[in-house]
Amino acid sequence: MANNKIEDLRKRRETINMGGGVKRIEKQHANGKLTARERMNLLFDEGTFVELDAFVKHRCTNFGMEKQDNPGEGVVTGYGMVDGRLVYAFAQDFTVVGGSLGEMHAAKICKVQENALKVGAPIVGMNDSGGARIQEAVDALSGYGRIFYNNTIASGVIPQISVIMGPCAGGAVYSPALTDFIYMVDKTSQMFITGPQVIKTVTGEEVTAEALGGAMTHNSVSGCAQFIDANDEECIAQIRRLLSFLPSNNMETAPAFETEDDVNRLIPELDDILPDNPNKPYDMLDVIGKIVDDGDFYEVQPHFAKNIITCFARINGESVGIIANQPKFLAGCLDISASDKSARFIRTCDAYNIPLLNIVDVPGFLPGTNQEYGGIIRHGAKMLYAYSEATVPKVTLIVRKAYGGSYLAMCSKELGADIVMAWPSAEIAVMGPQGAANIIFRNDIKNAQNPAEERAKKIAEYTAEFATPYKAAERGYVDDVIEPNASRPRLVDAFNMLASKREVRPAKKHGNIPL
Ligand code: HXC
Repeated sequence: MANNKIEDLRKRRETINMGGGVKRIEKQHANGKLTARERMNLLFDEGTFVELDAFVKHRCTNFGMEKQDNPGEGVVTGYGMVDGRLVYAFAQDFTVVGGSLGEMHAAKICKVQENALKVGAPIVGMNDSGGARIQEAVDALSGYGRIFYNNTIASGVIPQISVIMGPCAGGAVYSPALTDFIYMVDKTSQMFITGPQVIKTVTGEEVTAEALGGAMTHNSVSGCAQFIDANDEECIAQIRRLLSFLPSNNMETAPAFETEDDVNRLIPELDDILPDNPNKPYDMLDVIGKIVDDGDFYEVQPHFAKNIITCFARINGESVGIIANQPKFLAGCLDISASDKSARFIRTCDAYNIPLLNIVDVPGFLPGTNQEYGGIIRHGAKMLYAYSEATVPKVTLIVRKAYGGSYLAMCSKELGADIVMAWPSAEIAVMGPQGAANIIFRNDIKNAQNPAEERAKKIAEYTAEFATPYKAAERGYVDDVIEPNASRPRLVDAFNMLASKREVRPAKKHGNIPL
């Protein structure tokens, strides 16, 4: 082949690799952001990124667009390896027409979505865009529609991870919202349906873009994002970590990792970890850290609904999803946000064959008109539904309180827990001793010569009788009462025993989870 043709190819590629040019790249860096290609290279194992569709061009002739050459069409797409496993990705290139999305930009994204689904590989979408390319009008909207559709079809088949690394506004937010996880980079990313200007015009409210849709807002207030990271580099490193806990698709299991952590390791500290006073909090993260391999776990939504912990970890080298009440916040009560957070996490784990470990210390559902008017009945039902529906191995460890409906909502035997273990400190009852005594011994207390003394006596009676795991163990609702120090070997054993679990459900189009 004539050398000039190869030279021509190289030149074309060089131009495309420069995206919007040196000045715009410098502006991107000055704004604390990496370029699309830099992000791709960080995501994939060195030298493994294969770009697709670098030569794609738009077909728009509106408003002088025919004269505009958009290198790469404002989005870099392709595939590569993450820790040796195939992953697809796209990264919008803000240096090219603000990463705005037109017909062919969308076509590039759709192609990698469809390829990823065909081969059963996760897809990572990095968003940094001014939204629908205004000149392309309805073609741009159609592009978004196709992406949303693909997101939905791939949901529960391949892990989809969205990353917000710049603006993501208007309907554009709905692609990330349809995926499994959203990462946001602190201070450089924003998501909102309508921006500060529109809000000011319509409602008169004044709010900054950061307060409205910044990374911490979505991580701690709206619950729309699961992760926040300080910068692009850290964020991409964390995405690689998340992928290590996930299988490539719903037909596989997550990769197993060798661990030096002894499966028979006893944990004497757990025997004393609960405070003597049952109303005193402790940090459930300490319990999790002591049990899992190498003390290593990765929290999902750590800043939202802190009264419940959702995290990935490994036990005996295998991925598990952990749902645990956190007594440090709201005494570990379940509320609307905790229900949404955990139900979503349970379904994500079930979709991707990740066994569930439920660690229970829950005094009940949070009382209040806010909760009732907000629909705690509907939201709490999501947890019951998600646990009942899940067919992955489900192991429940009750460490302290397990009262009333919240005992069931944390995956009791009836909701399909395969193994339920309890520490001797477990209190499995309809409600706590104080509330129970006030109701069932009301008349005894009222008619007693010394009501306060009688009340204390009745509480003690109730506590001795019901605030234990033994009533539940007598009926087989609890499979075994175990010493806290033996929690790790017992959990390793339970998950090993359940490794071959298969549970078949009646055929249906899909269930109707309360939303
Ligand atoms: C076409 C766009 C664009 C867009 C940005 N650009 N957004 N071109 N369509 N939507 C171009 C700019 O003209 C500019 O071109 C370059 O990208 C960089 O933009 P700047 O404004 O210079 O950058 P910055 O100051 O950082 O501001 C970023 C921004 C702003 C806040 C995102 O560009 C902006 O407000 N853009 C419009 C946002 C918007 O309203 N989008 C439509 C949302 S509705 P030059 O040539 O000067 O470098 C939507 C509906 C989706 O998306 C519906 C899905 C169902």
